[in-house]
This record gives sequence, C-alpha cells and structure tokens, in this order.
Amino acid sequence: MRLLPPIILPALAAAAGVLAIGGADVSTAGIEALVQRRLPQHTGAFQFKLVNVSTEESRGNDTYVVSCGDDGKIIVQGTTLSALLSGLHSYLTNVVHVDIWWYIGSRLDVAPATLPCVSTPLQGSSIVPYRYHFNTVTTSYTSAFWTWEDWQLQLDWMALRGINLALAWTGVEKIFVEVFQEIGLTQDDIEDFLSGPAFLAWNRFGNIQGSWGGSLPFAWVDDQFQMQLKIIQRMVELGMIPILPAFPGFVPRAITRVYPDVNVTNGSAWEKFPATYTNDTFLDPFDPRFAQLQKSFIAKQKAYYGDVTSFYTLDQFNENNPASGDNGYLANVSLNTWKSLKAADPDSIWVMQGWLFSSNSAFWTNSRIEAFLGGVPVDSDMLVLDLFSESSPQWQRTNSYYGKPWIWCQLHNYGGNMGLYGQILNVTINPVQALHNSSSMVGFGLSMEGQEGNEIIYDLLLDQAWTSNPIETEEYFHNWVTSRYAGNNPIPLPDGLYSAWDIVRTTVYNNTNLTVNAVPKAILELVPSTTGLVNRTGHHATQVTYDPSVLLKAWSLLYGAGVDNPYLFANPSYQYDLVDWTRQVLSNAFISLYQQLVSTYTNTSTLGNIKCRNSRIRGQGAQLIALLRTLDDVLATNDNFKLSTWIGQARSNANSSADADFMEYEARNQVTLWGPTGQITDYASKSWAGLVSSYYVPRWQMFIDYLVSTPLTDYNQTAFAAGLLQWEVTWVQQTSEGKNDDKQATIEEVLSLAIKQWSRVLTV
Ligand SMILES: *[C@@H]1O[C@H](CO)[C@@H](O)[C@H](O)[C@H]1NC(C)=O
Ligand SMILES: *[C@@H]1O[C@H](CO)[C@@H](O)[C@H](O)[C@H]1NC(C)=O
Ligand SMILES: *[C@@H]1O[C@H](CO)[C@@H](O)[C@H](O)[C@H]1NC(C)=O
Ligand SMILES: *[C@@H]1O[C@H](CO)[C@@H](O)[C@H](O)[C@H]1NC(C)=O
Ligand SMILES: *[C@@H]1O[C@H](CO)[C@@H](O)[C@H](O)[C@H]1NC(C)=O
Ligand SMILES: *[C@@H]1O[C@H](CO)[C@@H](O)[C@H](O)[C@H]1NC(C)=O
Ligand SMILES: *[C@@H]1O[C@H](CO)[C@@H](O)[C@H](O)[C@H]1NC(C)=O
Ligand SMILES: *[C@@H]1O[C@H](CO)[C@@H](O)[C@H](O)[C@H]1NC(C)=O
Ligand SMILES: *[C@@H]1O[C@H](CO)[C@@H](O)[C@H](O)[C@H]1NC(C)=O
Ligand SMILES: *[C@@H]1O[C@H](CO)[C@@H](O)[C@H](O)[C@H]1NC(C)=O
Ligand SMILES: *[C@@H]1O[C@H](CO)[C@@H](O)[C@H](O)[C@H]1NC(C)=O
Ligand SMILES: *[C@@H]1O[C@H](CO)[C@@H](O)[C@H](O)[C@H]1NC(C)=O
Repeated sequence: MRLLPPIILPALAAAAGVLAIGGADVSTAGIEALVQRRLPQHTGAFQFKLVNVSTEESRGNDTYVVSCGDDGKIIVQGTTLSALLSGLHSYLTNVVHVDIWWYIGSRLDVAPATLPCVSTPLQGSSIVPYRYHFNTVTTSYTSAFWTWEDWQLQLDWMALRGINLALAWTGVEKIFVEVFQEIGLTQDDIEDFLSGPAFLAWNRFGNIQGSWGGSLPFAWVDDQFQMQLKIIQRMVELGMIPILPAFPGFVPRAITRVYPDVNVTNGSAWEKFPATYTNDTFLDPFDPRFAQLQKSFIAKQKAYYGDVTSFYTLDQFNENNPASGDNGYLANVSLNTWKSLKAADPDSIWVMQGWLFSSNSAFWTNSRIEAFLGGVPVDSDMLVLDLFSESSPQWQRTNSYYGKPWIWCQLHNYGGNMGLYGQILNVTINPVQALHNSSSMVGFGLSMEGQEGNEIIYDLLLDQAWTSNPIETEEYFHNWVTSRYAGNNPIPLPDGLYSAWDIVRTTVYNNTNLTVNAVPKAILELVPSTTGLVNRTGHHATQVTYDPSVLLKAWSLLYGAGVDNPYLFANPSYQYDLVDWTRQVLSNAFISLYQQLVSTYTNTSTLGNIKCRNSRIRGQGAQLIALLRTLDDVLATNDNFKLSTWIGQARSNANSSADADFMEYEARNQVTLWGPTGQITDYASKSWAGLVSSYYVPRWQMFIDYLVSTPLTDYNQTAFAAGLLQWEVTWVQQTSEGKNDDKQATIEEVLSLAIKQWSRVLTV
C-alpha cells in the first residue's frame, strides 16, 4: 500500500476526526438527505454503511462496494462518506444511467420507479486519497452571485463525483472586516481595501484593492457569510473537507496610521491597474502583528464554523512578486507565515496554488522555489496545487515540490471562456504517470478558472481518480452519453448521438498541440481589428485546433438525432449541448466571414474604386452582423447562455435598488472591460445572448463603419479602440433592472430557420 508522506498523518487525522474518515461519530445522515433531495421517490431504496473505516495509520485510498440486499435494497458500503457517495454515483451512472450536471441540473429524478439490482457487486477504489475542487478565481467567475439553490446543486455534484477537499471562500470578507476593526481600522479604511462583489478573488490574492463604480456593500458581505455557514455544514455532512482562508498579509493602506512602526511593503502592480487599485500593502510576516492577525483570523473562523478543518488556503505571491528575490528573504517569509499558522492552529496545513511557478517562471527559479517551500520545515504542513498540470506542470522541474505533498490539477480554461476543448490524453495518462513517478503526489483535482461547458473533460479526470490505468475513452464517452441524455428517451439512444460524441472525442477533445493550451476564445468576442485576432496561441488562443468541417459533421449528427427523434428536443441535456455545439460551429464560421471582410478592405487592387470597395465591405459586414444575430437567437433559447441570467442573479443579491444597480455594474464589468477602463478587457468574455446582440454586434458595426469611412492608409487601431472604449464604458453603466428577455423560441425552431438562412455554414 502506498503510504502518504508519514508526517501528514497526525494533522490529517485531526481533520478527519470530525470529518470524512469514519468512526462512531460519523453519520450518514447527510447522504440520506442528498437522496431525499435528488431521488425523493427512492428514499427507502438505499442503505449506507461505513465499513473497514480508515484508521489514522491506514488513511489512504477510499473504497466502496455496492450490492443488492435480499429485500431488494441497494446496499452501499464504503470506508468514508466520500467513498459512500462515490459508490452511490457509480451505481447511478453505470447501472441506472442517470446523473447530476452543471447548469442542466439534477437528472437523478428520472431514474425508473423500480431501481435495478446489481448482479455482481460494484467495487471501487480511489487511487489517490484526495479529490480536490475549485480555483480561488472560480468564486468570482462562476459562483459570485449564486443562491443557496445553486450551491446545493454544486455541492451535490461535487460530493457525488468523489470530491473530498474543496476551497470554501464564501463570505470571508466578514472575517477580514472583524479582524481589521479589532486593530482600529475604520469602515472607510476597510472599504478602500475591499474590492467589489465580482472581483473579490483578486483582492483575496492581493492583486487588487478597492472597488470602482461603487463600494462593496457590507450587508451583502453578511449575506454571503450566512451562506458560508450553510456551505460549510453541507460540505462536512457530505464528507468534503472545507479549505478555509487564512490571513495572507494583505491589509488596508491605513494600517500605517494605527501602527506607525509597522513593517509593510507594496506588492507589484497587477496587469494595467493604476496604483490606487493595485500595489496592495503587504504586512511583513516578520512583523509580530502578522502572527497576531493570523491568530485572530483563524480563531474567529473556528468560533463561527467549529473545528471543521486543518486546511487553510493562503497565497501571497500569486501574480504578485515578492519585495525581494533573495533566497533568505523568501525562506523567511514562508517560515514566519508557517509559524503564524501553527501558532493559530497547531494542526494547520498550508494549501497554496502553484500557479505562480508556471505564470512567472522567470522570477520563480528552482532555487527560489526551493528556498520558499523549504522555509516550511515540516513537509506535511503544506499542500501545493500543481494548478495547470495538463499543459504546464511544475512538479517535475521542482522535483515534486521538493517533497511537499501536491495535487495534480486540471485548469482547462481562463475566465470561464466558452469553447469546446479538451486534452483527453493528458488528463488520463499524465496523472497516472505522476502517481507512479512522484511519492508526494496525494490527489487529483479541478482548478478551472470558471465552470463552463466541456463537462465530460472534468468528469474524466475525476473518474480517473478511481481507475488505476489510464481510462479507455471510447467506452467512457459511450457510457457518459447514455447517462447524459437520460430521461424522456428509450435506451439505447439514437446512434447519431454516440457517433457525434465519438467524433469530438478523437478531434475537438483530443488536442495534443500545446500552442493552444486551454479553452480557446471566439474572435467575435474580441475588440475588432484588421490584425491579430485569428490564430492566437497560448492563453486565450483563438486558433482552431481541429478541422472545423469535422465539428460540423459531429454537429449535424447531433442535430440529426433530434430531427429523427423529436422527443430529444424536450431533453434539457440535449438542448444544452445542441446550443453549445451550434455556438461553436457559428463561432468558427465567423472566422471566415471576418477574413473575407478584412481581405476586401486590405486588398490594394480595389483601392482605385472606393465606391465599389465600400459596397462590398457593407455587404460582407452585413453578413457578419447577421451571423451574430443568428448566434444570439440560438443562445437565447437557453437560460444558461444568457446575459440576463447572470445580471438577474447579480441584482437579486442586492439589498436595495441602488445596490442592485451596482451589482449589475459589477456583473457587466467582469465579462467585458474587467476594470474601470478595460484593464484586462474581454478576458472573461462570454458568448451569451444579450451580450452578443447588445455589445459585440455594436462593436462590429462600429468597426465596419470605421472601415468604410477610413482609407487603408489612415487605418489606426489605437484611435478606433479609444473611440470604442468610450462606448464600452457607457454600456457597462447601463441597467436592465433585471429584465429577463422573453424566451422567444426553442432551439428546434431557431435551428430550422437558421439552416435555411445559413445553409453554406450549417451544411456538411
Ligand atoms: C492507492 O492506489 C494506488 C493505485 O492503485 C496505489 O498505487 C497506492 O499505493 C494506493 N495508496 C494507498 C495509500 O493505499
Ligand atoms: C472491507 O473489508 C473486507 C475484507 O477485507 C472486504 O472484503 C470488503 O470488500 C471491504 N469493503 C469495503 C467497502 O472496503
Ligand atoms: C505604497 O504605495 C503607497 C501609495 O502609492 C505609498 O503611499 C506608500 O508609501 C508605499 N509604501 C511603501 C512601503 O512603499
Ligand atoms: C507598484 O508596482 C510597480 C511594479 O512593481 C512599481 O513599479 C511601482 O513603483 C509600485 N507603486 C507603488 C506606489 O508602490
Ligand atoms: C521592522 O524592520 C526593521 C528592519 O528590518 C526592524 O529593525 C524593526 O524591528 C521591524 N519592526 C517591527 C515592528 O517588526
Ligand atoms: C530572517 O529572519 C531572521 C529573524 O526572523 C533575521 O534574523 C534574518 O536576518 C532574516 N534573514 C533575511 C535574509 O531576511
Ligand atoms: C516518469 O519517470 C520515467 C522514468 O524516470 C520517465 O521516463 C517519465 O518521463 C516520467 N513521467 C512523467 C510524466 O514525468
Ligand atoms: C489523439 O491524438 C494523438 C496525436 O495525434 C493520437 O496519437 C491519438 O491516437 C489520438 N487519440 C484519440 C483517442 O483520438
Ligand atoms: C501533455 O503535456 C505535455 C506538457 O506537460 C506536452 O508536452 C504534451 O504534448 C502533452 N501531451 C498531450 C498528449 O497533449
Ligand atoms: C502546433 O501548431 C502550430 C501552429 O499551428 C504549428 O506551427 C506546430 O507545428 C504544431 N506543432 C505540432 C507538434 O504539431
Ligand atoms: C490560421 O491557421 C490556419 C491553420 O493553420 C491557416 O490555414 C490560416 O491561414 C491561418 N490564418 C491566418 C490569418 O494566419
Ligand atoms: C493613432 O491614433 C492615436 C490616438 O488617437 C494617435 O496618438 C497616433 O498618433 C495615431 N497614429 C498614427 C500613425 O497616426
């Protein structure tokens, strides 16, 4: 049996005493409640039993066995709560063929009235002790405005997929406020420091400070804290260890007023933000006030949440360079930070995102990484998230983080961008290799910036955590499709569905060229320009990594399955996927229309006849706009693809109408300008109905008008973008007062029209 690094055990056991590991005090009531929530007609059908409960010494892989009792009951046995939930999930997906999904929601309730027995018991064993979920930024890109209902879906999704360790950031600003008030900082001081509701992740990282367009509403912070109480309780009862925040050192500037002799440094500037919003003040971990604030911070959380965890998330240099690159300094920072944590909670384990080592590898040389990690004298007191393992793993070059336990994570996307994408080879083969090559690797996890589409690729890694050889994807996709479309249809499903998914499996989802290392972006979401949009590589690539005609073929099989079997159009999973794939097909088609437009404009041979050239630009521009309008119509058929859904959620978080307008500003700003004046414009762009029609369409129309009115020799992108920015700033300030545009049509209706209008784009 593979043993965890030995010293991890005492601390783990402490966390486990109240949590996932068995023992007399662990109750399966949380799992029974999940069955009640999701399978209300089957509450009596299951029996959950903790068996072979892991002891402190044997804590390792989780195992389950699912069998049938004489009375027909489904008996789920497992070594931990997470094992029981994984066993339940395995039964539901492999035997009953139902599942719970992001966005689409739970489809567990479509299970048949009589649950099938299992002929031979289903057995499962995880190959790693930890299955981890979340990136700090997911809390802003995805869950910023979630209701409790959204959280419940999420937590059930996570628990059933075997997650047993997850970030729990919600409402932490309440703790910050209390700690800061305790040392004499005023509400104004604190308000100057905290960022707005849609940007808290980067404030928590120390990248930004303060808020533009309005201040963080303290009443909302209280609401979020109330939500956190429920989240923590739910996590615990579903066998997930919450990773709570710790005090990283970022403080309001005014700290120098209350402590004139305090030792602080300014962090580096982040992106293109002016100094008022960045260069966050960092309290020196050598300063005794650091340990004091840490103690208060952790004590308050323990008082509110109980003794629920030993894991603390703490990042000091995420996209923020240390004041000095001196190895002695770096080791001192981590040593003193670790001491502060141990003084506040002797069992604490410091969880750190390893993103900095990949994003700023020029600064983070091996010797600096070794110095920084080495500052923590006890290896098992740290847990490093190798954040982008599928494309830019750091564990090999750092010799497995110099012995610190670490988790293999799939990042997959930036900013919750939408694009069909996956690396089926790297998320199956590489984590298994890492398990065998690195003795300090203790888990697999998901570290996506936003939860977007491509759910199968996330599922694949989480299922790999229960499979010792790299998963065979052909069979995996087949089974996944069966559960995906469960509901109103007969089994077996139409062949076209399976064929469609098999085509994307070997192409769209089998990217092997890391020039595009994450979900690509649609060029229609970028500031229009005659150059630089197509074939971008790296982060936010726009290069299409597969032959677009192959996706079109898969799309036509998916759509054809519905045309031949119209009941599919009533299936929420089918609706979701058809909208998502159509979105991608139209985004790809946009590229060629755009290239034709640009070549008309830049073709010097037509310069002589301006009138003729302009009329062609107008004609081709009209096509471009028409395609965007069709895209908007397609997206508008599904609430999951609508700007009004995001804005509606944001507004409903508010406690007053003024706050609601600010919430809307936040929601609009994040997905467009990202900053008061476009500091990282379009980073978190989305192909959403309403955003396409009210933001991207006007931008492209202004571009077309600009081309018509500007001779090629006078073309000036800076001037065009500056004019556009003024309009963008106004757009972000608009309010919709939560109006939800009426759903005009179904995807079936929209597509039957679109096929006629766009036969050259939508015909194989
Ligand atoms: C968990 O399973 C993997 C794969 O079978 C194995 O290599 C490892 O030793 C096991 N770990 C423990 C702690 O049993
Ligand atoms: C518990 O241990 C027994 C005996 O080793 C084994 O047969 C059974 O499969 C185990 N059950 C689980 C859920 O691990
Ligand atoms: C940090 O920046 C602020 C604002 O520009 C400045 O007033 C302060 O002196 C700086 N502090 C340090 C320690 O450099
Ligand atoms: C902000 O950070 C940048 C980059 O490190 C630095 O050049 C600048 O001096 C900093 N400003 C302040 C006020 O500290
Ligand atoms: C601040 O740093 C200086 C120089 O490193 C040191 O002499 C001083 O004691 C420190 N002050 C506090 C309050 O830690
Ligand atoms: C590290 O901190 C100690 C005190 O904790 C101090 O004596 C030493 O000078 C520091 N070293 C560096 C390189 O900052
Ligand atoms: C694992 O180690 C073997 C042997 O040292 C090496 O060939 C292989 O590339 C390593 N795999 C990974 C994923 O690092
Ligand atoms: C994925 O692509 C690689 C490289 O082209 C190829 O070797 C492999 O067979 C493909 N795998 C699948 C499942 O399509
Ligand atoms: C997997 O990632 C590595 C980088 O770690 C890259 O070199 C390789 O091309 C990727 N393999 C596949 C199959 O995508
Ligand atoms: C990856 O794609 C780039 C850009 O299309 C191309 O230049 C390069 O040759 C490709 N690499 C491989 C290994 O196919
Ligand atoms: C983009 O890349 C594709 C495939 O490599 C190529 O056919 C096309 O010409 C490129 N377009 C531009 C504008 O570079
Ligand atoms: C382009 O426009 C910018 C901003 O209006 C201006 O500063 C710059 O001089 C212009 N460039 C040229 C080449 O005219």
